Amino acid sequence: IPVEPFDLVIFGATGDLARRKILPGLFHRFRAGQMPPDAKIIGSARSDIDSAGFRELIAAAIGEFIPEELRPAELVSEFLNHLSYVHIDAMGETGWSELRGILRPEAVRTFYLSVSPSLFGAIAERLSHNDIATLESRIVVEKPFGHDLTSAQALNKDLLRHFDEQQIYRIDHYLGKETVQNLMALRFANSLFEPLWNSTHIDHVQITVAESIGVAGRGGYYDQSGAMRDMVQNHLMQLLCLIAMEPPSKFTSNSVRDEKVKVIEALEPVALDDIVRGQYRSGRDNQSYFDDVENANSRTESYIALKLAVGNWRWAGTPFYLRTGKQLRDRASEIAVVFKDPPHNIFPNKMEGRKGNALIIRLQPDEGITLRTTIKEPGPGGMRLTEVDMDMSFADALGDSLMSQDAYERLIMDVIRGDQTLFMRGDEVEAAWAWADPLIAAWEDANQRPVPYDPGSSGPEEALMLMHRGGRRWRPIGD
Ligand code: BG6
Repeated sequence: IPVEPFDLVIFGATGDLARRKILPGLFHRFRAGQMPPDAKIIGSARSDIDSAGFRELIAAAIGEFIPEELRPAELVSEFLNHLSYVHIDAMGETGWSELRGILRPEAVRTFYLSVSPSLFGAIAERLSHNDIATLESRIVVEKPFGHDLTSAQALNKDLLRHFDEQQIYRIDHYLGKETVQNLMALRFANSLFEPLWNSTHIDHVQITVAESIGVAGRGGYYDQSGAMRDMVQNHLMQLLCLIAMEPPSKFTSNSVRDEKVKVIEALEPVALDDIVRGQYRSGRDNQSYFDDVENANSRTESYIALKLAVGNWRWAGTPFYLRTGKQLRDRASEIAVVFKDPPHNIFPNKMEGRKGNALIIRLQPDEGITLRTTIKEPGPGGMRLTEVDMDMSFADALGDSLMSQDAYERLIMDVIRGDQTLFMRGDEVEAAWAWADPLIAAWEDANQRPVPYDPGSSGPEEALMLMHRGGRRWRPIGD
């Protein structure tokens, strides 16, 4: 779908995210014919380069992050023509009037703040005081959106002083992932699942976001955050909301977000016993977390598993198990909805090791959906049962090219279209921090140290025990 004319200003345009994701993402949309011919992309940062220098930097980034067959030289140079650069001092006065002079009155102005949150307020203020932002303008901010409730409230206040909530786009890039959006289609465009989507039929839900990489290279940031702040408060919380929320009455940004907030607000307090925090420790060849963050006394978790309860009619009695960690055996993210056994078993002793019906939604890699069902084992040996997976890979079913889009591509285009559905509303972020803060305070008050786990493993033993206590088992990571 073509979009209206836009001028996009990227603050922090020479940074890692801009080079890796934002500009390559825009190039893909350009290649797909979605960018209006007069669209302007204006890079801005502290670096004292000019437009030619910026184009060179982005040409190199496209060369590095986009496969050769997808970036014909002619297209790349056409794309680069959309780019220019203004040297702006976010905390000072340099560059703002030059920026005002470049922007067109008739184009949608979008300001993408790919900078430290400590600059959000200063930039918002200068955009407003220099008459650069209009009432139709949009402002996009990256995570981390706060370190706790108080800092998130302060950021919201700073932004809301100069922009309305309808103009603010808080990115959680998990919401731009194809399969994450598909959760809504799966639940609300099919009549099959919704009647079963409750504690009468669902035994428990497992949400896993496993990463094989460690934190080397970004230890400074990570050690101040840990898995809870870096992943659970935002990405896993969003997944939980999409699985647990009530059907919204309409597919509009506020109807969807209203329902998500209700899920967060319904979360029961979590006992410290229902949280397992881990830290990867070196085998002989592997680096340990302590080395990666250069802090041998760190108590920050690189892994966390939690058992949560959503206190409402739909979910009373169905636990939600969440886990995420670094340096695990595979990069694999999925949601497993595990159903209860049939109420009466007419096939006793016909199957060993039954795991039961489960709907598994694979988020990455190899996005798809699997339905684990019980069938009769074929052959003349009588009624013996076995389990098989009904397996759908989205890439096989729908084509690789559709699946290979990056989350950022979709999200940037949604901003330009003015669709906030996949962005976090201020109250949503605050509710998630209001939930996370007491948990973090509880383990800090208890002076708790994370338990060790081997790099390349499935995480600490204690996380297995968390499941075993409920008579359940985690699905293998990367199976
Ligand atoms: C980021 C976290 O938000 O998400 C990183 O800060 C993490 O620590 C990343 O590695 C994971 O994103 P993805 O898309 O690779 O699953």
